[in-house]
Amino acid sequence: MVPVQLRTRSAEQTAEVGRRLAALLEPGDVVILAGGLGAGKTTLTQGIGAGLEVRGEVTSPTFVISRVHPAQQPGRPSLVHVDAYRLGGRVELDDLDVDAFIDDAVTVVEWGEGVAEPLAADRLHVHLVRAAAASGRDEQVLDDPDGQEGRLITVTPVGSRWGGVPLRSALAPETSSVAPETAQTVQERNAARL
Ligand SMILES: Nc1ncnc2c1ncn2[C@@H]1O[C@H](COP(=O)(O)OP(=O)(O)O)[C@@H](O)[C@H]1O
Ligand SMILES: [Mg+2]
Repeated sequence: MVPVQLRTRSAEQTAEVGRRLAALLEPGDVVILAGGLGAGKTTLTQGIGAGLEVRGEVTSPTFVISRVHPAQQPGRPSLVHVDAYRLGGRVELDDLDVDAFIDDAVTVVEWGEGVAEPLAADRLHVHLVRAAAASGRDEQVLDDPDGQEGRLITVTPVGSRWGGVPLRSALAPETSSVAPETAQTVQERNAARL
């Protein structure tokens, strides 16, 4: 499936991507977040939590590996927020017992790449990278007096669950905070590969 690429220019915009993503998420969905320290994984998860209207503050868990945020409204999915930073692999993921929650919850796994795939055949992979790192330049940092930085966010759907889901229009309905030409380029590259 075609990845969707977005560019955000502030933490608030990254959280907004999470809120928009939340509108598409259903019980049983798994979102795997990748990207280095400070890339914005927790910020995006906070947006997802806000969009799902779950209880409790979504934070970077220091001592906990996973946290369940129950839904405020009955019938809506809870959020299972996992930080897999210190997890080595499948065995440890099993130990978390998230399987018990997964069907009724939206499960978001930070540092989940290479760890959380066995959780679900259908999933969204979200990769966040500092725009400066992506371009190999640090001009973004230099012309950024507020300390807000660009992030390049790539959302890749995996599995039939996401077939026909209008990810692009849901995540980037307008062009103000995103770079449609970038998304276009990705689409063209993929089309050229076929
Ligand atoms: N465009 C942006 N998107 C996300 N975070 C940003 C952005 N610009 C600046 N930030 C800041 O970068 C930090 C990201 O931290 P966090 O979301 O905890 O990252 P991670 O969970 O990937 O380690 C926050 O302090 C946030 O305010
Ligand atoms: Mg984090």
